[in-house]
Amino acid sequence: MNLRLDDSSITVAIVGCGGFIGSHLLDAVLERTRWRVFGVDLDFYRLQHRLNHERCEFLCADLADPAVVERIAKFPLVVNLAAICTPSRYMGEACEVIRSNYDHPAALAEACAKSGSWLVHFSTSEIYGKTTPDSGELLEDETPAVFGPVSASRWSYATAKLLAERFIAGLPGLRWTVVRPFNFVGPYMDFMPGVDGEGIPRVLANFSTALLRGEPLKLVNGGKAKRCFTSVHDAVDFLFALFDAGSDPERCDGVLSQAFNVGNAENEVSVAELAARMRSIFAKVRGVDVSTLPEPQVVSGEEYYGAGYDDSMRRLPSVEKAQRLLGFKAAIPLDTALEESLLWFVKHYSV
Ligand SMILES: NC(=O)c1ccc[n+]([C@@H]2O[C@H](COP(=O)([O-])OP(=O)(O)OC[C@H]3O[C@@H](n4cnc5c(N)ncnc54)[C@H](O)[C@@H]3O)[C@@H](O)[C@H]2O)c1
Repeated sequence: MNLRLDDSSITVAIVGCGGFIGSHLLDAVLERTRWRVFGVDLDFYRLQHRLNHERCEFLCADLADPAVVERIAKFPLVVNLAAICTPSRYMGEACEVIRSNYDHPAALAEACAKSGSWLVHFSTSEIYGKTTPDSGELLEDETPAVFGPVSASRWSYATAKLLAERFIAGLPGLRWTVVRPFNFVGPYMDFMPGVDGEGIPRVLANFSTALLRGEPLKLVNGGKAKRCFTSVHDAVDFLFALFDAGSDPERCDGVLSQAFNVGNAENEVSVAELAARMRSIFAKVRGVDVSTLPEPQVVSGEEYYGAGYDDSMRRLPSVEKAQRLLGFKAAIPLDTALEESLLWFVKHYSV
């Protein structure tokens, strides 16, 4: 497939285009290429600045609709980011979460197999399951996955994502690549509860909201779980490295039928350490002493998220495969990524 960045006849379909990663990918496609974009989402409130762009067509629609799936699969490159992916919903809305993360992507994959599109499907680092504090690097093609019991409906998301990966990998004729993100952070992530969304956002927006409201940061089960927070700009660079390799006849075999971890292993911190860093950055931004901010509070997972909560204790990506096959390595340090995200949040929601 020829995906030259200066080829104005190419249209990329971005499904979930109005979301956090989608909005960054859209900007990057418009800035770095001459491609057109067919963007699909349930809403586009983050994309007000792009709605009238001459190279964009936006369709406000549900991926559950087979007619929408057919339209998307007509394009040669399809990036599927659409999903319910906020942890607080995995407990109370397990069936919706499973439809969103298995049924819809499976239908899209079947349509892409028929049309011959290259499907770049966003899975998750959660497919590695219930890791322990001693779990080492997670390798795409070797690490076994262990999940919590069915009674812990936290695993509805991860198991649906894993089944979608298996379905995609098993589908005859499909040209596919799977992406497993490791805690991307950046501007436009999630929402501020009560302002532009309801419920509990992911940890970055959650902590940013508490800081802005002068409330204590809540450390679920003590904040001992470790994550590798990765700048969304690195994630976008990964995608361009992927597009580049996918359009090179000599390298495309190396990126098709492959799953890739996308994460910054050097940015590993516990959630408690993340809270400490975000408090320091916020104090610096506000020009106050960190001791004037409320101390973090420990809460139990059940108390915070409800019955059925469970967690994986460490998610450390092996980054060797992306480096070997794509020459990609995430480069943005944790504090840079956090500062950019927090500054955006403060500016956006102070207005
Ligand atoms: N951001 C991360 O760190 C991270 C981590 C692991 C996995 N992922 C995966 O990456 C993908 C994108 O994540 P994100 O952080 O941008 O999430 P997001 O929630 O910001 O974006 C997802 C978008 O999909 C849209 N969407 C959901 N259901 C839809 C439907 N039925 N039809 C049309 N649009 C629909 C939503 O409206 C939203 O705009 C998801 O598949 C997610 O599971 C992201």
